[in-house]
Amino acid sequence: MKNILVTGGLGYIGSHTVVALQQAGFQVYIIDDLSNTQLEVWDKITGITGVQPVYYNIDLKDFNAVSVFFQSHKIDGVVHFAAYKAVGESVEKPLMYYRNNLVGLINMLEAMEENNVGHFIFSSSCTVYGQADHMPISEATPLKKPESPYGNTKKMGEEIIEDFVKATHKKAIALRYFNPVGAHSSAAIGEVPNGIPNNLIPYVTQTAMGIRESLGVFGNDYETRDGTAVRDYIDVNDLADAHVKAMQRLLDGKNTANLEFFNLGSGTGSTVLEIVDAFEKVNNLKINYEIKPRRAGDIVEAYADYSKAKEQLGWEPKTALQTSMQTAWEFQQQLGKQAE
Ligand code: WQD
Repeated sequence: MKNILVTGGLGYIGSHTVVALQQAGFQVYIIDDLSNTQLEVWDKITGITGVQPVYYNIDLKDFNAVSVFFQSHKIDGVVHFAAYKAVGESVEKPLMYYRNNLVGLINMLEAMEENNVGHFIFSSSCTVYGQADHMPISEATPLKKPESPYGNTKKMGEEIIEDFVKATHKKAIALRYFNPVGAHSSAAIGEVPNGIPNNLIPYVTQTAMGIRESLGVFGNDYETRDGTAVRDYIDVNDLADAHVKAMQRLLDGKNTANLEFFNLGSGTGSTVLEIVDAFEKVNNLKINYEIKPRRAGDIVEAYADYSKAKEQLGWEPKTALQTSMQTAWEFQQQLGKQAE
């Protein structure tokens, strides 16, 4: 049985990926400092799979703690999610984001090198493309300076990994997610934002729950079919599946480059109002919303060309947007009215 370390494994995408890795037959170890999640997610994962992953509360900025972990566990591959990810907060506190996201990454890579651990998967983001000139966005699309320090830590992270794998002849894959949505079918795990949600779907579900008065729709004067911005909403369970396939590719030695990039999206763009409409219809409820000014830093449109992941990972999105809207709502109802 191969041992896989998942950093940030108690987080939103991390927890779904831990479930998928366990169900694919891997032994999973989790490192998470609980800075953006709750310890109870550990039990929730165990409840879904019946197998308790090994868990350590380690801050990746503490190199010695990371190194000691690798000295005491034989790890075959690493999936690295651990990072701060709030776009707005990153604009206010850039150094906190650069220190946490980049020092954490560098410590992870250095400890892997020191303990001869290969096979690294990096959680990246479509934000590295900025506002792309053409749709859909493929891996050949030129990168632009991301709109936020958060996005810049993803772009810089990819560059750090590229230099690392060239120097060490290791293999790595960067997965560039579009907009992750939805929750596990058990409603036991899902997206639990800290404080007021930045992302659209948690704000929609909290509005439906009565936690928020109404949803602010950030701008309806974009050059799109209904004036609201277009994004590619990809189900978190499909994202988790892509990580399993990417790790299998690395372990089987099928990488054709030291560092490979894959876009993970549904391939379909949806406007904000289309998302609201889909959520209302499938859950048979109404969402209060009001049009607000555009949000600084927002791009107009982004949706993925995922053909490279389909051809080389054997992956494709399987979950309908309506299903993601349903599971997001079911998870919110399980959370209840508790807001962080
Ligand atoms: C989606 C759309 C908003 C909230 C960012 C990161 C990305 C990824 C996901 C972290 C936009 C609109 C939103 C609201 C709104 N990383 N919106 N009212 O900005 O596309 O991507 O989060 O997880 O790397 O860049 O996602 O969900 O914030 O916004 O109208 O209350 O919904 O303007 O058009 P975004 P988002």
